[in-house]
Amino acid sequence: MEEFRSVRGFHDIFGEELERFNAVRQTVRRILELYNFEEIILPVVEYAEVFQRSIGEATDIVQKEMFVFPDKKGRLLALRPEGTAGVVRAFIQNRMFALKPYTKLFYEGPMFRYERPQAGRYRQFHQIGGEVFGSLDPLVDAEVISIAHKVVKELKIEAVVEVNSIGCKVCRPAYREALVQYLEQVAGHLCEDCIDRKDRNPLRVLDCKVPTCKSAVKDAPKMVDFLCEECRKHYQKLLEYLNIMGIPYVENPNLVRGLDYYTKTVFEVVSQELGITIIAGGRYDYLVEEMGGVPTPAVGFAVGVERVAMLIKELPQRQPLYMVIPLGENTVSYALKVCEFLREKGKSVELSYKRAGLKKQLELANKLKADYAVIVGEDEMKEESVSIKNLHTGEQVKLNLKELFSHVL
Ligand code: HAM
Repeated sequence: MEEFRSVRGFHDIFGEELERFNAVRQTVRRILELYNFEEIILPVVEYAEVFQRSIGEATDIVQKEMFVFPDKKGRLLALRPEGTAGVVRAFIQNRMFALKPYTKLFYEGPMFRYERPQAGRYRQFHQIGGEVFGSLDPLVDAEVISIAHKVVKELKIEAVVEVNSIGCKVCRPAYREALVQYLEQVAGHLCEDCIDRKDRNPLRVLDCKVPTCKSAVKDAPKMVDFLCEECRKHYQKLLEYLNIMGIPYVENPNLVRGLDYYTKTVFEVVSQELGITIIAGGRYDYLVEEMGGVPTPAVGFAVGVERVAMLIKELPQRQPLYMVIPLGENTVSYALKVCEFLREKGKSVELSYKRAGLKKQLELANKLKADYAVIVGEDEMKEESVSIKNLHTGEQVKLNLKELFSHVL
């Protein structure tokens, strides 16, 4: 029979890739705790409208990339393509605005986008994201960016923080108009998608990756020159705070993001090595209200776990592995006792299931990448001792169980 394959764009994560993956998860979770974020576990499925209304009808995510399907009653559901919309839905539904003046939530898990799979781009991928509700202060934007910066710094990843402001309801319409006028003039150089975007979602033309579009928008008007007084001050303060925090950044006037809910601050952390964005976020002051909640400003970010994992050069040291090797059937019960003893001390232990001589079992220990062989023969059993062999240096010592206690601690 032909063997089954996983669905295109859906992948298994195990072995060294999983070690990297978990190193990212643990680091981000620890950093989020430092900033007093609380976890929320969200459903993977929401009504499709939750995403259509928040991310925006004219975006690529909603237009082309959502996994949408009807339930048995014909209601349209979607696999979540991102986390923010679900957090906002939960924030409103659970009346969280009434519980605290500020709400800081983080989530992690799989997201789904029907994109063309390539290196670092999957149809099922994982994010860890954080959202802060309740403050208009640019200090929060700066703190969110500082979290993203800490993640790459702690994982020793080279990446650049790019920031921009895309204004608000007051100042964006005039900018949009100026941009559309400009794009009409250069329309002959735009790709087919951007011809379409020019009218539906003109800001997105600014970050099209097609080289002709890139050069066509070089002299396009810039949002930062159109910001209203409030947005300009907010942006200036943000940059000031980033400077105070010692976070290096570059201003990218063409940074607009692929989701419609943003206002004012947008940012991305970009890896030059992979040429892709690994962490991204921004402010979304109207979204809670637009989703039916009490008007509440908010700002957040999401880490692409696979993408950051690909860039880690040094894996954290794993716990040493002890392999307990019984020599002969009689010693098995004593070997079980030794295993239990080591596990109670918090050690990671493999019990050899192979009934064979010492040489064969040591080979097995090496194949399983054990760091120590804990050999228990008839003599050791009688003396209540073990022989411990360091499998890296070959050094071997015999210790009684009491000594072992101090040895492994
Ligand atoms: P996003 O830029 O769409 O933002 O996604 C955030 C990150 O998820 C990206 O920077 C990337 O690392 C990762 N990512 C996105 N698509 C894929 C894919 N197909 N394969 C692998 N990784 C991918 C958001 O989702 C917003 N919700 C972020 C946010 C939170 N803004 C405010 N709060």
